Amino acid sequence: MTPYEAIISKRDLRVYTEQPIADDVMHRILQAGRMAGSAKNLEVNRLIVVTDQAVQDALVEAGDFSSWIGSSAAIVGFASPTAELRMFDVGRQAQNMMIAAHAEGVGSCPVTLQHQDKARDAVGLPEDWSMGMVITLGYPVDDHPESPLKRTRVALDDLVVRNRWT
Ligand SMILES: Cc1cc2nc3c(=O)[nH]c(=O)nc-3n(C[C@H](O)[C@H](O)[C@H](O)COP(=O)(O)O)c2cc1C
Repeated sequence: MTPYEAIISKRDLRVYTEQPIADDVMHRILQAGRMAGSAKNLEVNRLIVVTDQAVQDALVEAGDFSSWIGSSAAIVGFASPTAELRMFDVGRQAQNMMIAAHAEGVGSCPVTLQHQDKARDAVGLPEDWSMGMVITLGYPVDDHPESPLKRTRVALDDLVVRNRWT
């Protein structure tokens, strides 16, 4: 799979087998997140890898569209000091990791945690840290159901504005 093929064919998947992710595969996925650049190269984010079932179950309660995440092989949370939160950095790390995972046959999905008090409690984060996004990871089931939000992407001509809006 070329990098372009991995990027184009990646879909967000929410149903996984019970197969755990091997340490060497997880290592490469985490390295892909680590090597993303960050604003001013400050690297303020930390990755919280959750495989413990009780902690996963607590994270389920931190999101409004996260009822399914407790059955992931792993959940990776993006934790940052709230005053230094840079969502572009988080997005770069997350996408690097999800594409690396996809190329290894591991499915993934980004998930929003709307309730920061519950997210902090679940993983023991300090009061002045936030974890607004996680990604789930796991090997997809063979007969994966279609996404509940299935639609085609905006056409390239509608997506791209060249030079000026008007
Ligand atoms: C910033 C962001 C937040 C998201 N939050 C959730 C979420 O809370 N729960 C969920 O099931 N999917 C979530 N998603 C996944 C989107 O629903 C998904 O990217 C979109 O439907 C496209 O899916 P596809 O790859 O199947 O085309 C989120 C995606 C992004 C980019």
